[in-house]
Amino acid sequence: MSICYVNGSFENKSDAMISIQDRGFNFSDGVYEVMSFSDKFLINFNKHIIRLNRSLENLKIKKPIINTKSLRIILQKLIKLNNLNDGYLYLQITRGSSTRNHLFPKSVMPNMVIFTFTVKYDENLINKGVNIRLTDDIRWGRCDIKSISLLPNVLEKQRAFQNGFYESWQIKNKFITEGSTSNAFIINKDNTIQTHPINNLILGGVTRDSVIEIIKKNELSLKEKAFTVSDLNSCKEAFLTSTTVKILPVIKFDNSKIGDGKPGKTTKTLIQKYDDFIKSQING
Ligand code: PDD
Repeated sequence: MSICYVNGSFENKSDAMISIQDRGFNFSDGVYEVMSFSDKFLINFNKHIIRLNRSLENLKIKKPIINTKSLRIILQKLIKLNNLNDGYLYLQITRGSSTRNHLFPKSVMPNMVIFTFTVKYDENLINKGVNIRLTDDIRWGRCDIKSISLLPNVLEKQRAFQNGFYESWQIKNKFITEGSTSNAFIINKDNTIQTHPINNLILGGVTRDSVIEIIKKNELSLKEKAFTVSDLNSCKEAFLTSTTVKILPVIKFDNSKIGDGKPGKTTKTLIQKYDDFIKSQING
């Protein structure tokens, strides 16, 4: 039995209800977070909350829970009720339920839904690396907001899958922004690790942020500067990051090899260091 949280109560997933007038349902007028937990411990909790609050403030959606400690307690209770040690939490907040009208309703309570999920860990993806395809970035100009409006991302991920690729890396004005569900990194021949800078063209990934901290701590060279297809073509390693996959080596794009077509040394080191970083959070 799977338990979720809906607007203040813990319920069986099959009994949980949200109004058909929910503005998330009608307009995609809402935001979300995906967090991971390991050994029941919430990973990167503060970073997720900072981004969640930023998304809410940008869209002028009220915070359903002001106190971060209370939110943490709810998340931990949900993990316990679902009897899970490792997995993910999906948290969605919409502007609320109201008669359909594009204008913001005058007084409305936000709707908050949280549920847990697990993903089957595929060792092959990490060991072998993945092939990604390049595509146009057709998304709106506020990709920094973690909006539930994910249609371009959904379409690109599906197109990648149907064509035998793991992910799509999107191109805007000749520069690669990010993947449809992840942030994109390359490692240049001079060992500089390069990724798109934080701005309105990408989602500032929590994993991206943690990986950058690890890169800096280990005194590796970092360039937060957008890269082109030609940079990707000449780089020696590439990888992608997200909460659900952590760090995944990218070994090919559009079927052509990156470096020797195998997960590279620096990527492997970062995967190891990221696992250590997660363990260090769990052990306090
Ligand atoms: N997506 N960029 C996009 C467009 C994303 O959808 C995601 C994550 C990321 C990586 O962000 P983070 O490291 O904070 O997970 C970057 C989540 C996992 C999802 O939609 O399921």
